Amino acid sequence: MPPPIQHACEPNSNAGRAELARVEPYSLRTFTPTQAVLSHSAGVYHWTPEGRRLYDFTSGVLVSNLGHNPNNWLSAYSRYMGWEGVSAPLPPPGFTAAVPMTAYNAITPVEVGATMRLLALMRAAPGGRRFEQVMWAASGSEAIQKALWASLALDRTRPMILATRFGFHGKKGLANAVTGSETDADRDPRVRFISFPMNECRDVTMRDDPFDFTPYQKELDALLHQFGAKIGTLITEPYLGGGGSYHPPAAYLQGLQRFCHQHQIIFIIDEVQSNFGRTGSMFAFETYGLEPDIVVLGKGLGNGIPVAAAVGRADIFGSLGYGEGSDTWSANPLCCAAVQATLDEFEARDVIAGMKSSSAIIERGLLALKELPFVAQVRGERGGMVWGVETRDHGDRTAGDWANALVLACYEGDGTSTDGIHLLGPLAKKVVRVSPPLVITSEEATAAIALMQRCAARLKS
Ligand SMILES: Cc1ncc(COP(=O)(O)O)c(C=O)c1O
Repeated sequence: MPPPIQHACEPNSNAGRAELARVEPYSLRTFTPTQAVLSHSAGVYHWTPEGRRLYDFTSGVLVSNLGHNPNNWLSAYSRYMGWEGVSAPLPPPGFTAAVPMTAYNAITPVEVGATMRLLALMRAAPGGRRFEQVMWAASGSEAIQKALWASLALDRTRPMILATRFGFHGKKGLANAVTGSETDADRDPRVRFISFPMNECRDVTMRDDPFDFTPYQKELDALLHQFGAKIGTLITEPYLGGGGSYHPPAAYLQGLQRFCHQHQIIFIIDEVQSNFGRTGSMFAFETYGLEPDIVVLGKGLGNGIPVAAAVGRADIFGSLGYGEGSDTWSANPLCCAAVQATLDEFEARDVIAGMKSSSAIIERGLLALKELPFVAQVRGERGGMVWGVETRDHGDRTAGDWANALVLACYEGDGTSTDGIHLLGPLAKKVVRVSPPLVITSEEATAAIALMQRCAARLKS
């Protein structure tokens, strides 16, 4: 068991870190060299128990797109839950008459509202024609699993699933089965991995770059030759997120979709990470010009409340029988209220247009980091709010050492103030992800990226 992470001058945080290291398995967290302790948060800021202010460059893990504890969202949430008072029968003493916090197998108006509004939004988007039903879930991996269950159930003679190599779809069940590559242990025999154009994902995506789909088409054709109509499903992320921030030319995803449509293969896009604005449109299927059969949502959908969903064709979801998609938490009123509060915010103002100037500032600032000898590449979504800074071996340190050092240096700050930047441990051991809340202002982006540059520059010596 590794020793608990400790930092100088953080007595309160260190006590919490040490205590939890005894009573929680360290496997509960992915390695992050800072192991920040966050006592409260607002907008794009966290504060540590010692009172240090950290710019949040993670949004949780791409969850709080609208920032932490936004007032409008909080009051909408409270209103949807009926906590601000409902005209209902007099409650018994000690209780409040409000929307039930759980309503297993029953229906609440807040669920009706969330489902109808989400569907309406997605159907109205270019490429949203196939969205007819919402299959709720409590986590991204669960929603992926339900999408795959339904896709497999539609035609039991077509059990093979194609998945893009080095994708991340979750750690549980079928979501794990379509994650990673064939070299990982215990592979599901129904899954075959196909290449993702990682080498063609250069600095910040040029989605319209010319792209030769021929080698990928050959790979697909070879699989089709081998397995024929047994292939019934293809799942991909729009960009590889957990795999290291690889953002492909749109023609790659469009090629996959063409193949699926030609062979009646169900085309599933995993937008658990990219939904609600990350790629510069509300959904990545819009950004990349796609028309999927199912889109899987999560993370930003609830802005911090655990909720996920698969949205897609009614005939696919209809292939599961009573109870096959049900569980304790799916379509829970607390989750549905969060979805509605999130939708309210995106409807009330153009969050995505509002982030464009911050996006450009951050992109420019991150690209400037390439002057440092240990920074190899900066990948991301042009006009969006997600990037990966890839480090390289340099001097006597490996790329992984530099990535960890960068995360730590940003946390510690530049020495001129107590401000720092909250980042997570590197993806694929060498990619530091930068994904602030979409609501980061130009001023905040300018200050935060300048701080990151100063912190990174300190690592040179
Ligand atoms: C693209 C993608 N799919 C699925 C998941 C799994 O979601 P969850 O952790 O909510 O199960 C993640 C989580 O990081 C993700 O990034």
